[in-house]
Amino acid sequence: MSATAVALIVAAGRGERLGSDGPKAFVPLAGRPMLDWSVDALQQVSAVGQIIVALPEGFEAPQGTVGVAGGAVRSQSVLNALAAADPGAEVVVVHDAARPLVSAALIEDCIAALDQDGRWDAAIAAAPVKDTVKRSLDGVAVAETPARSELWAVQTPQVFRREALERALGCSEAELAAASDDAMLVEADGGRVRLVHCQSENFKVTTSADLALAGQMLGAATELRASGV
Ligand code: CTP
Ligand code: MG
Repeated sequence: MSATAVALIVAAGRGERLGSDGPKAFVPLAGRPMLDWSVDALQQVSAVGQIIVALPEGFEAPQGTVGVAGGAVRSQSVLNALAAADPGAEVVVVHDAARPLVSAALIEDCIAALDQDGRWDAAIAAAPVKDTVKRSLDGVAVAETPARSELWAVQTPQVFRREALERALGCSEAELAAASDDAMLVEADGGRVRLVHCQSENFKVTTSADLALAGQMLGAATELRASGV
């Protein structure tokens, strides 16, 4: 039996690149706020005993979840949510509200991967990169081309041993601000992080084109379910 997990959903971003009127996590998506799709997926996972949402100012947590104030940067929102976690939870699932296509199966796969043996401090969803990636220091001159076969695009959910995440988030404010995911802070702290291969679409809604595509996919899936297929 897996240890009880707490889930942290970070939903406090402004969504500047989407350019919507309000915060991205509350933008309507296939008939409900974007955030609700992630809450649904997490509520289907029996190992998850508590869901905490880092919120933008003036917004309320969905039913069945605990709301906390978000921070100025993403990792600060994670830290604020972690402070409200049940003391008994040994496993922490971190998820971006901006990934509404997440499935309960992917969350369960990440929790199981962490549980499998005692070797890992984190298990994170990832997919092989599709494009060839170049490194450039100035955005003009290409410095190198890493082998694509070794590159993985990482997502959320990211599942952590609580003590490893707490230690990693104890870094400086500058490191918190520079972190584009939480696993990199655990890596920097000497932690062992493993990939969990994501089998279904789980892209991040960043632009209005992403929002339109996510709406089509979730709308079509809902219609299929309603028609009993
Ligand atoms: N997030 C957060 N607190 C912040 C910044 C981001 O909780 N201070 C959350 C967002 O709500 C989102 C996730 O982190 O669910 C990933 O961030 P991103 O996709 O960059 O969302 P935004 O910051 O809202 O978008 P943008 O960068 O375009 O403003
Ligand atoms: Mg952002």
